[in-house]
Amino acid sequence: MVGKPERQVAVFGAGYIGLVTGACLAELGHRVVVRDIDPEKVALLRSGDVPIYEPGLGDMIARNKERLTFTLDLGETLDGAEIAYVCVDTPPSASGDADLSRIWSVVKSLEGATHLKAVVVKSTVPVGTGARVRAALDAAGLAHVGYAANPEFTAEGRAVTDFMRPDRIVIGASDEATAQLITDLHHGVEGPVVVMDVRSAEMVKLASNALLATKISFINEIATLCEKTGADVEEVARAVGLDHRLGPHFLRPGIGWGGSCFPKDSEALRQLASNTGYHLQLLSAVIEVNNLQKRRAIQQLKDELGTLAGMRVALLGLTFKPGTDDMREATSTVLASRLLAEGAEVRCWDPMARPGEVEPWVSTTRHATPEEAMAGADAAVVVTEWPQLKEVDWARAAAAMRRPVLFDGRNLLDPAGMRALGYTYMGVGRP
Ligand code: UGA
Repeated sequence: MVGKPERQVAVFGAGYIGLVTGACLAELGHRVVVRDIDPEKVALLRSGDVPIYEPGLGDMIARNKERLTFTLDLGETLDGAEIAYVCVDTPPSASGDADLSRIWSVVKSLEGATHLKAVVVKSTVPVGTGARVRAALDAAGLAHVGYAANPEFTAEGRAVTDFMRPDRIVIGASDEATAQLITDLHHGVEGPVVVMDVRSAEMVKLASNALLATKISFINEIATLCEKTGADVEEVARAVGLDHRLGPHFLRPGIGWGGSCFPKDSEALRQLASNTGYHLQLLSAVIEVNNLQKRRAIQQLKDELGTLAGMRVALLGLTFKPGTDDMREATSTVLASRLLAEGAEVRCWDPMARPGEVEPWVSTTRHATPEEAMAGADAAVVVTEWPQLKEVDWARAAAAMRRPVLFDGRNLLDPAGMRALGYTYMGVGRP
């Protein structure tokens, strides 16, 4: 922190984003108080536990415990704070628009915090939210407090690295002093700072996620066409990605994207457009392709097995991607619901998932290993590409299945090798 002052930061929300933001700002040398309204979560954090799984986060929190505290108390959070970071969640509302109620309750709680220098929103919000927060701050006598949108681009499973070494730090601020304050706050982070107006910064976030989701849905449609024409999508994606104008990233075909961001943010962007009277045609198709992708997998299994009624199907991997315990909008949930609706028996394995006592999971059985889940099954589906699946003794697993039908929803395994072991192997877009 050579030449840059250490700041006192109040972080609102101890979810994925709040915890990563708080821990990384503390790592940069700032004093950080993270506030959450969930007493259990705060108690856990205070006792040194981390309520979510994110590589490197636990160590970072532990190493910065002198500068990083957790509280339920608003007074303690704001006491001496110079910058308030808003990291609360913005789930979809009944209309598909983002539900901003948690943002508003934080903004309300800032009334009287006249010592603040800036309020920064990190949560993903519709374009125009910053202007509304600005108006609310003005009305609360905080016109002298700066405002900035500082969207996050961190992916779960690599959030700490993404924060500390980002492709870019986007700061949307209405005045130069606030832009400089937030730029300085990131001193020590390795990545270019891009300063712009608030609305554009809000749009960068939504546009980035929508474009990433578009790439995946695009390659998934090409995968379907590969199946119909005998081409191999893995070869196609590899060569397409070598074009430096296109790039190799987010061209991995599979049984659909999920998670807490893409589904919610793409729908929020679509609704944002609808609210202005404009229909985002491309994005609507991207979402539709993703919904179909999950259902196609079930149809393919049904075609192979004749019926799903009475069939025992093992789902291997439940989380929306490997390296996380997050089950939000996971493809596995759609698959399990559809399989149960077709009368199948669902068994599952995942090293991290905590699906909870809810449908469809209460109607499934959990197993400690992939092999155990596959024993006696009529089909198995690779839903999440956990590295542990590479270590499975697939020959033994095939012998223990009632019918060795394998749907590799992430193209994780070698088709020829699996067929040689006796599997009826189906991948995504592979001959
Ligand atoms: C995503 C973005 O990648 C982050 O930049 C962004 O900050 C974050 O959303 C957010 O808005 O907070 P995340 O949802 O953690 O991050 O996960 P990704 O790694 O992007 O994967 C999303 C989904 O796409 C997963 O279901 C994954 O399996 C799927 N995917 C990803 C594919 O099917 N193919 C690919 O090539 C890449």
